[in-house]
Amino acid sequence: MPEIIEPFRIKAVEPIKFTTRQQREEILKNAFWNPFLIDADDVLIDMLTDSGTSAMSAGQWGAMMVGDESYAGSRSFKRFESKVQEIFGFKHVIPTHQGRAAEKILCSILAGPGKSIPNNNHFDTTRANVEFSGSEAVDLVIEEGKDPDSLHPFKGNLDPAKLRAFLGEGREVPFGMVTITNNTGGGQPVSLANIKEVSKIYRDHGVPFIIDACRFAENAWFIKQREAEFASWTPKEIAQEIFRYADGATMSLKKDGMGNIGGFLALNDDALAEKARNLLILTEGFPTYGGLAGRDLEALAVGLDEVLEESYLEYRVASVAYLARALNEIGIQTVQPAGGHAVYIDARPLYPHIPPEQFPAQVLVCELYRRGGIRGVEIGSLMFGPSVGRDWVRLAMPRRVYTQAHMNYVGEVAAELYAERASAQGLKITYEAPFLRHFTAHLEPVA
Ligand code: F0G
Repeated sequence: MPEIIEPFRIKAVEPIKFTTRQQREEILKNAFWNPFLIDADDVLIDMLTDSGTSAMSAGQWGAMMVGDESYAGSRSFKRFESKVQEIFGFKHVIPTHQGRAAEKILCSILAGPGKSIPNNNHFDTTRANVEFSGSEAVDLVIEEGKDPDSLHPFKGNLDPAKLRAFLGEGREVPFGMVTITNNTGGGQPVSLANIKEVSKIYRDHGVPFIIDACRFAENAWFIKQREAEFASWTPKEIAQEIFRYADGATMSLKKDGMGNIGGFLALNDDALAEKARNLLILTEGFPTYGGLAGRDLEALAVGLDEVLEESYLEYRVASVAYLARALNEIGIQTVQPAGGHAVYIDARPLYPHIPPEQFPAQVLVCELYRRGGIRGVEIGSLMFGPSVGRDWVRLAMPRRVYTQAHMNYVGEVAAELYAERASAQGLKITYEAPFLRHFTAHLEPVA
């Protein structure tokens, strides 16, 4: 089979800074062994997130020049709105500055004390918005989705039996969700069969169905590859089919919008949309820009077409699988199968001598930086407390930013740290904030 190559050539480049290992050791010490506190300029390969980090295309940059910055009735909004409607099919499109703003508005109009909101897995900001409203966020992913070694093709599926039982308990459920792909579970996709079934269950119970659509194009690609019925459909046709079963969506266009900023809340219900727009004006802006510039809306409208191109999606998913395979060949365990936007490394088997109380995944994050200037993110005992039961590192892949050579380099650094894994030292916390401690915590090696 011919090599799957990057389906673009590079017109603008951004230099990355090389540092020596000695410099990085100093930087790491000054950042208290917490790479969130390192200046981005001191990072060589930044895999902290795939959110807002995409490289825009010449088409997107060109479109920005024709952005209409009118406060009301902007032409750029109309272009954006019609692109979103074409793909997602919803009647009302409410632009927001990013995904969590859409979640905040949705929760403000529908959630509240005493209510419950089911999802396959709520992403952190969704959970935070649900809980801030006083509601309970309930995760109902299939059991295979919790097993890092399961090869189930759709590990993001929401368990229909669990959902039926949950809705049968008589709780107040103002809306129900599914997140595509399931970021929390390793960027795993949800099948169209599952979306149809979950939609029917929600509708039988009169519960509006809202999709968290952040990585909808990657999810559509997995459906094309893994669900035989859709093998001959285009990613766009699959996306359109997905959203036919929903009543609305929240979206961070910083992911599959190929933008550096942006989001939307889309709804079919007129009365709900009116409430949402009224709130939007309070915090985000007038309904024809919602916290974005006209030029952002133009770039996003182009990005939504580009993200659905088959050559792009094939390369995108192949590049994540390529890195996962390289790590697996070294002996490093990752969540299987590889997801759509990131590789999730299991740090516990890598460092069996480092107990969870000494944050093995944070040790790995620091080792990747110290040895190679690579920045990933800890998802484990530091982020959630030791009771979470797992210590993963997420290496997220910014869209269209790094080449195969960059990934080969990540593999080389990983091979070196694997060979010398026995010498890695655990970490202890010297300062922590009362909430979300992982962002600002100070650590130091255990003596
Ligand atoms: N939903 C999912 C599934 C996400 O992954 C994110 C963001 C959001 C909602 C919120 O969107 O950042 O635009 O407000 N995820 C980023 C990440 C931050 O690194 O995974 P936002």
